[in-house]
Amino acid sequence: MCGIVGIIGGEKGTNVVPELIRGLERLEYRGYDSAGIAVIGNGIERIRSVGKVANLRGKITDAMVGDLGIGHTRWATHGKVTEDNAHPIMSKDVAIIHNGIIENFKSLRFILQTEGYVFESETDTEVILHLLQRELLKGSSPRQAMSNVFKMLDGTFAVVAMFLHFSDTLLAMRHKSSLIVGLGKESMYVGSDAGALSDSCEEVVYMEDGDIVEMHRTDGIVFFNTELEEIKRRRHGVTSALVNIEKGEYPHFMLKEIKDQPNAIRNTILHNGIDKTLLDGISNILILACGTSYHAGMVAKYWFEKYLKIPSIVEIASEFRYRSPVIQEHTLVFSISQSGETLDTLAAIEYVRSNSNCSTIAVANVKNSATARASDIVFYTQAGVEMGVASTKAFTAQLIILASISFCHNDFLMDKLKEIPTLCEDALDLAPEVEKIAHIISKSNNAIYLGRGMMYPIALEGALKLKEISYIHAEGFAAGEMKHGPIALIDDQVPVIFLCPSGELFEKTLSNIQEVLARGKNVIVITDSNGEMAFPPDVAKIVLPTIQAEFAPILYSIPLQLIAYYAAVQRGTDIDRPRNLAKSVTVE
Ligand code: F6R
Repeated sequence: MCGIVGIIGGEKGTNVVPELIRGLERLEYRGYDSAGIAVIGNGIERIRSVGKVANLRGKITDAMVGDLGIGHTRWATHGKVTEDNAHPIMSKDVAIIHNGIIENFKSLRFILQTEGYVFESETDTEVILHLLQRELLKGSSPRQAMSNVFKMLDGTFAVVAMFLHFSDTLLAMRHKSSLIVGLGKESMYVGSDAGALSDSCEEVVYMEDGDIVEMHRTDGIVFFNTELEEIKRRRHGVTSALVNIEKGEYPHFMLKEIKDQPNAIRNTILHNGIDKTLLDGISNILILACGTSYHAGMVAKYWFEKYLKIPSIVEIASEFRYRSPVIQEHTLVFSISQSGETLDTLAAIEYVRSNSNCSTIAVANVKNSATARASDIVFYTQAGVEMGVASTKAFTAQLIILASISFCHNDFLMDKLKEIPTLCEDALDLAPEVEKIAHIISKSNNAIYLGRGMMYPIALEGALKLKEISYIHAEGFAAGEMKHGPIALIDDQVPVIFLCPSGELFEKTLSNIQEVLARGKNVIVITDSNGEMAFPPDVAKIVLPTIQAEFAPILYSIPLQLIAYYAAVQRGTDIDRPRNLAKSVTVE
């Protein structure tokens, strides 16, 4: 979602424009639909553009120079995708960028309009600008103005502001939307994630809710609370993992990340020894997550119940807090989030913390991310930065952590876990076959994914992946539910992808395949070397290596990711930046 970058150049006169644009390019992976920058040079100068940062770059001339500036990628919430609504939003002498949503913007806008303030955009952000302006007119310093305005806003916000008459200072404030301050050798930075700042910073400070920071070119950085009392915040070194993320030989980050999976899984297994006492005294497990991470949670529910014998429920984090759930004592609460910044998941953790004494465990891919910091224990997936908007390697790495916990009392399965990376390599070797099969799907406007047991969440995940990047309408169902409704969708056009590993539910899934074959002809079966003989020769097949049944969800995810990828390539969509999607979903 929206991305923020702010820079104070080390020396007066250092032009920050090129670095602002580079920062915005590094934020592109988050998903956005317009971009802009503003610098203090000859007054405040601003350039904005709809679409890619490349469009913005094309509009910038050598005449735009400034030694302090802010930049933003906007993912539209309030107001259409237009240049007028793109950030920075500015007046003659103040410019701001904002991530999040101001929930009381309508009433604030009304008050400001009755006082004569004229609005030039449809954004909720513009109320922040005019409120700051109003505070300055009353004689407040920028710092005081930020603190006063902070208290007037409801909702979620990360705001960075610059003031023409304080041309060595950036101010920023955070409430439930990530903001990170970076310290370089000479320059200072503020960004919505460490990735925006990575190659320039040696240390970062993660701002907390309620923090205001004043960054001054020569006086340094000071953090305050909303009462303007100075507070201390810890500095962290920047990990090299964030630096220089390139596609290398691959045409898309998504393909690179799919192919990274054997290593991501290997590293995740190596780095996450599980302390078996973690589960002592636990009577229930609650798993909170959204999207793909929710699907990982659904698989974990099967594992936790079958192998740990602990009743488990998995909840969509965006729904959880609104039904006032009762959390039983001795519940162990997991949150699963690649970014660690998903607002709904974070809010669900906060609900648990305010309504119970239960321990919270975060499974996250981003070091020091919000869910990690909000939880008692963190397990980091070692997938490395995931740049493609569609989650692939982070998902299978999440499954590895959840499997390691589920099987921690089972030495045989823990040993088998170590074979997964090699089996994934074998599955990736099937990419050319999958690419051919993807043609069946890319020609269709609909697709159905079916699986039973642990393959049901993987069917949902396969369908999600396909719709996200190819825009083909796809639905996943539990194969046994077919005849309770979805079978009405079957005709001789719609591709139906069955996940059918050999094992306990093989025969039952086979019957469901027969039911579909009796009504349609576009069946694609993903199975293994033990199962393949059971299918008629004219059924399209992807034959994976045979894997220990418990781990099939991990291996079967790979051909589904590849199907989505190749179908999207064949349709010519923007694979790493699919329309309307964001990598970190930081609003409700
Ligand atoms: C799908 C996808 C999304 C995310 C969801 C949660 O490819 O990426 O469905 O899984 O937005 O994001 P995280 O895991 O960052 O909490």
